[in-house]
Amino acid sequence: MTQTLTLRRPDDWHLHLRDGDMLASVLPHSANHFARAIIMPNLVPPVVTVKQALEYRDRIVAALPKGAKFQPLMTLYLTEDTDPADVTAGHASGDITAVKLYPAGATTNSQSGVKNIEKVYPVLETMADIGLPLCVHGEVTNPEIDIFDREAAFIDKVLDPLRRRIPGLKILMEHVTTQQGVDYVKSVDEGLGATLTTHHLIINRNAILAGGIRPHYYCLPVAKREGHRLALRQAATSGDRRFFLGTDSAPHTDLLKENACGCAGCFTSINTMSLLAHVFEEENALDNLEAFASLNGPVFYGLEPNTDTITLTKLDTPVKFPEKIETGAGPVTVFDPMFEVFWAAA
Ligand code: DOR
Ligand code: ZN
Repeated sequence: MTQTLTLRRPDDWHLHLRDGDMLASVLPHSANHFARAIIMPNLVPPVVTVKQALEYRDRIVAALPKGAKFQPLMTLYLTEDTDPADVTAGHASGDITAVKLYPAGATTNSQSGVKNIEKVYPVLETMADIGLPLCVHGEVTNPEIDIFDREAAFIDKVLDPLRRRIPGLKILMEHVTTQQGVDYVKSVDEGLGATLTTHHLIINRNAILAGGIRPHYYCLPVAKREGHRLALRQAATSGDRRFFLGTDSAPHTDLLKENACGCAGCFTSINTMSLLAHVFEEENALDNLEAFASLNGPVFYGLEPNTDTITLTKLDTPVKFPEKIETGAGPVTVFDPMFEVFWAAA
């Protein structure tokens, strides 16, 4: 008998849509499966004001395929010059769902990010007062810290002191990649959550480095040792309301990935739901997929879950995903999990 699974329609709580030709090419894949997404603001130039966020939202809505229902939830890129009054206005009007903290230099287009966290404490205090969440790229950028230790160091050096200083601030640790990240989130009952990506549930660092350099598995935070991947899988599949899906689908053209200094990011919006069904089935946790992909995120953000549904069907033959999609900016390689997937999403 065909196995099917019907879930409330999922949301993507961390997504890079880019702009222009790339936006037009990748957006339909997210709109296909997801009702809403938190849109990352790391464009060039970054989305730092409410006005820029509204303009970007208009471009996203204009790029949606006819009839598609998809709500972009906008974020502001936090800089040391962010105006608390602008943030307050964006929250009050309902146009801004979160503010994003990139430590300067941590990842793609993060040059305008925060160098000295103390400089943004006034904005963060305002956000705590009005109840606006902070999404955090949790890696220190100090060159002396090994890249595989940057998330753990961030927790000790930045995140924990920040939470003590502004206990009322709601924080989302994004794309957690370590056991330490999982443990830290589990140690806090309220006001701290984490998104987990699809790819970090599937690959460890061997995918990038063993047997040749594979740039399409390079993302940030970089995938860690196997033990960390297993901790992420446990957290994702446990049903724990503090953990939910943020794909961090981050398209770059092949030219920019297959490069002497390749960009970070995996493009997963097209196959995420199929891959998640595979992972949750492997962990005997298909019953918790809805919590992870569709319920826990809305609880964190104080939103209602979606009322319509998505159906996943287990086929007898593997689902074929394209190896690449063509975009107006050039081809983009689709994340290859390196195993066959039998779950189709519709
Ligand atoms: O792999 C990543 N790609 N990690 C990030 O933090 C940014 C993203 C991007 O924008 O390319
Ligand atoms: Zn990201």
